Amino acid sequence: MTDRNFNKDYVFDLLRGAARFTCSDLLSALAATVAEFPEAPIDNAFNHKQVASKQWARDMLATHTAGAFDHVWVMGGWIGILPAMLFDDARFSIKAISSFDIDPAVAPIAEKLNRKLSGKAAFNAHTADMYALDYTGADAPDLVINTSCEHIADLPKWLALLPPGCRVLLQSNNYTSEPTHVNCVASVDELTQQAGLSKLNYAGALQLPKYTRFMLIGRV
Ligand SMILES: C[S@@+](CC[C@H](N)C(=O)[O-])C[C@H]1O[C@@H](n2cnc3c(N)ncnc32)[C@H](O)[C@@H]1O
Repeated sequence: MTDRNFNKDYVFDLLRGAARFTCSDLLSALAATVAEFPEAPIDNAFNHKQVASKQWARDMLATHTAGAFDHVWVMGGWIGILPAMLFDDARFSIKAISSFDIDPAVAPIAEKLNRKLSGKAAFNAHTADMYALDYTGADAPDLVINTSCEHIADLPKWLALLPPGCRVLLQSNNYTSEPTHVNCVASVDELTQQAGLSKLNYAGALQLPKYTRFMLIGRV
């Protein structure tokens, strides 16, 4: 029995109680996801720093765009926390969100988390390398979100795959001690330079306890 399994009932009961108390569909979905995937790193993906980073993404997206999208694609989408937070936010009107991650373990968890929260919208999670996707087909996205820029070796090479004018939200950070962070940046200016966006609606930094996260919203 792992530590995660050992704590499953405790975490499930607490989340379900918190969901009831706060009338939160998101916490209710998290409780159901913990119950079905007790080994999943939901505590890591939904820790206070991850939540703060994604609340910041939501707030700046709501401030700097109209908040209405036909199809949002999320790169390195992990277990689908950001789509869940977007579906749970009345400021947005989104018809569909697709999440792509190279790790085959995460798609079923993301699907479970977003199944009810997506409501009438569509949600799907795919196992794919973001460098191998076609961003220009009939089902092309009108917003591409990549909050995992620190995890990909060549940001300009990936951005070059997107059609000119495509709207993007990018996050990276300076958390160099994490081994999977192969492409950290030291400042928002460095991220701005790397990305070379044709239009920049927002550029900012969010100081967190152990590191700073950087974000750009604009068009390639
Ligand atoms: C730790 S997670 C997310 C971290 C990020 N700060 C966030 O919360 O959005 C990074 C994810 O990127 C995925 N990833 C890394 N390289 C990728 C690639 N080339 N294509 C798709 N997903 C990738 C990993 O599998 C992992 O699930």
